[in-house]
Amino acid sequence: MKKWILGSLAALSLIALTACGSATEDTSLKKIEDKGKIVVAMNPEFAPFEFKTLVNGKDTIVGADVEIAKEIGKELGVKVEFSSMSFNNVLSSVQSGKADIGISGISATKERQKVYDFSETYYESKNVVIVKKSEVDQYKTTTALKGQSVATQKGSIQETIAKEQLKGANMVSLVQNGEMINELKAGKVNGVVLEKPIAEGYVAKNDDLAIASIELKSGDSDAYAVAMPKGSTALKKKIDKVIKKLKASGKIDTFVKEAYDLSIAE
Ligand code: ARG
Repeated sequence: MKKWILGSLAALSLIALTACGSATEDTSLKKIEDKGKIVVAMNPEFAPFEFKTLVNGKDTIVGADVEIAKEIGKELGVKVEFSSMSFNNVLSSVQSGKADIGISGISATKERQKVYDFSETYYESKNVVIVKKSEVDQYKTTTALKGQSVATQKGSIQETIAKEQLKGANMVSLVQNGEMINELKAGKVNGVVLEKPIAEGYVAKNDDLAIASIELKSGDSDAYAVAMPKGSTALKKKIDKVIKKLKASGKIDTFVKEAYDLSIAE
């Protein structure tokens, strides 16, 4: 008898719990489906992943991340809205709910994984140092920039990579990548740390710049992934499906290549 009562009490409380929904209920996917759109945070100053260009005379955000976002929109059956901001605000806008997800060449580091959910990774890239072409022979080792200034983008993993590996260099943290390149060209900084495809784009468009032969080590979790608020299990499942498909078909590489060609053609 006692057992029976206890058993039904347990069952009742389970029903009650399910009915009310707990505080950790996963509304990640439903929320977006109900709105009929997904808001994607990005810093479109990062060709070939996201950058602005004129399409039919209109300023438009394009790039590999934009194509990935569009595929996610298709899978969810919702419209895609891009929200541009500086990189150091991308992740926080996902946390605050201003944006639904962040796609911005975001490295899914261990540290960030504590605060956000990340999709499967979709791209891996190495870090390099851009210098003036006329000085490229002076900068061959990680200690060659000692006492010199090195710029990195605010909020990026390059801030840490440069600080830890370019021993003795003075760190300059700037919000915009374009600003870092201008400072380098003007001789106000001696090096700029960026991931390789981005650096290659800048070098292709600026023949006074070159990539130094300095070897920087990458972390084991620096690959790019889509950022979501913690607890987005249902949404992550859908996004992972899209990423897996794009990776398996070689589409990601095509997106990057096409966007790169477009970015340097401007
Ligand atoms: N992968 C680096 C990071 O996650 C840099 C990303 C910068 N992205 C951008 N759109 N500016 O910190």
